[in-house]
Amino acid sequence: MERLQKVIAHSGVASRRNAEKLILEGKVKVNGKVVKELGTKVGPNDKVEVNEVPLQKEIPVYFLHYKERGVISAASDDKGRKTVVDFFPEVEERIYPVGRLDYDTSGLLLLTNDGEFANLLMHPRNEVEKVYVAKIKGMILRETVRKIERGIKLEDGMTAPAKVKVLSADKKKGTSIVEISIHEGKNRQVRRMFEAVGHQVMKLKRERYAMLDLSGLQPGDSRELTPHEVKQLRTLAQSTGKKS
Ligand code: URA
Repeated sequence: MERLQKVIAHSGVASRRNAEKLILEGKVKVNGKVVKELGTKVGPNDKVEVNEVPLQKEIPVYFLHYKERGVISAASDDKGRKTVVDFFPEVEERIYPVGRLDYDTSGLLLLTNDGEFANLLMHPRNEVEKVYVAKIKGMILRETVRKIERGIKLEDGMTAPAKVKVLSADKKKGTSIVEISIHEGKNRQVRRMFEAVGHQVMKLKRERYAMLDLSGLQPGDSRELTPHEVKQLRTLAQSTGKKS
């Protein structure tokens, strides 16, 4: 079930804000009845009409994007900064990112117009494995690695066990390159995990998302996911959800 204004926006009829206006003005019907409440939830079998015209669902599209640093993970930005969606000028569907990467984080990001798929992947219960490579300040101790692997106490709760591998360390510069695999998607999670153990993250890149990686792509590049990859992601997220 999704919020009515979101369903209208994703059909391409109006922006989210205009969809809210249309609802409040009584121009939206669900299963033949005018609905004016913004919180109303609708499912795939509900018939939604705007100005008496039934919504046409967009054909779902799925992309893998190599996000550059200095780009916002959102469909639009109120400060006018470049967003990941700006990298898809030829795509007419209303795509948006599945989850987010920080402005300063680069790496693998999925975009789609399929709300159900995005929700499935973003649901905390279904979080697939994400692998990041971080350049951090300082030389990381084995003890600290263990601490991160066991789980770190952040202000919004404990992190689940993570996998950590030290890839290299530069004694002269006093920096380490560390790979970290997590299944969660808390806000700024990797940066906060390292900060909690006294290491500032200088650079962060998401290298992998479930079975997907960035092979063949340069920063700013994108490619469509294959139908098989979409199916694999769905299956993975569903099976992860069942385990817990
Ligand atoms: N963790 C972070 O700290 N930042 C991201 O962008 C993703 C994960």
